[in-house]
Amino acid sequence: MSVILEFPAGFLWGTSLAAYQAEGGIENNWTDFAKKTGQKKFDAGRACDHYSRFKEDFDLAKYLHTNAHRFSIEWARIEPKEGQFDEDAIQHYLQVLGALKQRDIKPFVSLWHITLPAWFDQKGGWLNKQAPEIFQRFVKKIVQALGTHINFWIILNEPMVYVSSSYCKGAWPPGCRNFFKVIKVILNLIRAQRLAYQTIHQHIAHAQVGTALNAVYFDFPLACVADYFWNKFFLNQIKNYQDFIGVNYYSRISLSLKEGKKKRSDLGWEIFPEGIYHLLKEFQRYQKPIYVTENGLADAQDKNREEFIREHLLWIHKAIEDGVDVRGYFIWSLMDNFEWDKGYWPRFGLYEVDYKTMERIIRPSAEFFKEICRTSTLIIK
Ligand code: BGC
Repeated sequence: MSVILEFPAGFLWGTSLAAYQAEGGIENNWTDFAKKTGQKKFDAGRACDHYSRFKEDFDLAKYLHTNAHRFSIEWARIEPKEGQFDEDAIQHYLQVLGALKQRDIKPFVSLWHITLPAWFDQKGGWLNKQAPEIFQRFVKKIVQALGTHINFWIILNEPMVYVSSSYCKGAWPPGCRNFFKVIKVILNLIRAQRLAYQTIHQHIAHAQVGTALNAVYFDFPLACVADYFWNKFFLNQIKNYQDFIGVNYYSRISLSLKEGKKKRSDLGWEIFPEGIYHLLKEFQRYQKPIYVTENGLADAQDKNREEFIREHLLWIHKAIEDGVDVRGYFIWSLMDNFEWDKGYWPRFGLYEVDYKTMERIIRPSAEFFKEICRTSTLIIK
């Protein structure tokens, strides 16, 4: 007997992308770092050439019957020199928004997704005392130039992942390992969220503004400590400066003895769908609508993606039944793209990208996701 699970009316089904990972041709602190250190892997180069192929790519999103799409605006394109805004870049993103509208796909716009303009980085980036105000100036420009076309705003993407990768592990530019800097950057990101939130609302009263947090399900003795610092601390600081919570969920960290039984993605991350249920239930206490702004896996063979999507949606649906106000679900990612310091080998896409020809090839799991988006139901056989 099969079970039919319906999602609430108006539920948003989407895909996610970010500028540096997909657009190609961007110069920012990552390309600068590649030059400075001689480590070419930080330069995304042509990426997926999404900058010139966005219309065709949105046709692919439309084919999947998605009704929402998340993407980021590259700050380095909009403000290539301090205080000077590039009108062509603004026009480009206007066209991007227009192309989504034509296809009836709602934009979720991220204002900062990991990368920085080189000039800002040279001033210390998020360590600079004035960083929140400098970011606010950029946000104001976007609000004035594009704001009437955007309803859903994501100010920051995964602040905790950023500080840990850039200032703790030193794996991302600026390649630092310094505890004091970690604190400084977090405090500035909190202030940046608050200022940006106010700026957006000053101009667009009805805007829906949030931030996308990387939520990890910790499952070991004293997990509550890790859970507090990783999942809740930032959220607590910005709880009055957001209209919804964006949750990016990928994995669990556990100390389970059944190591051999764990399913993992190509990146070695444990696949643990149930984790999203517990996290959503926890986030219910903030009494804000929740969007799952990223969920997905690196799976070049597309062996586990269908099951991954099905199982995660099953647990999300259970959370909704239990009263959690989840309003949308976005897959990371529409297509394969640049996976930060790992480069191009991890394959997160519903569409495979042939980087030589730039051809996009649909994966079988995308056809499965398409049916869910088309019917807004999940059928469990
Ligand atoms: C980030 C994406 C990244 C994805 C997979 C998230 O941490 O927002 O930029 O590609 O997860 O690692």
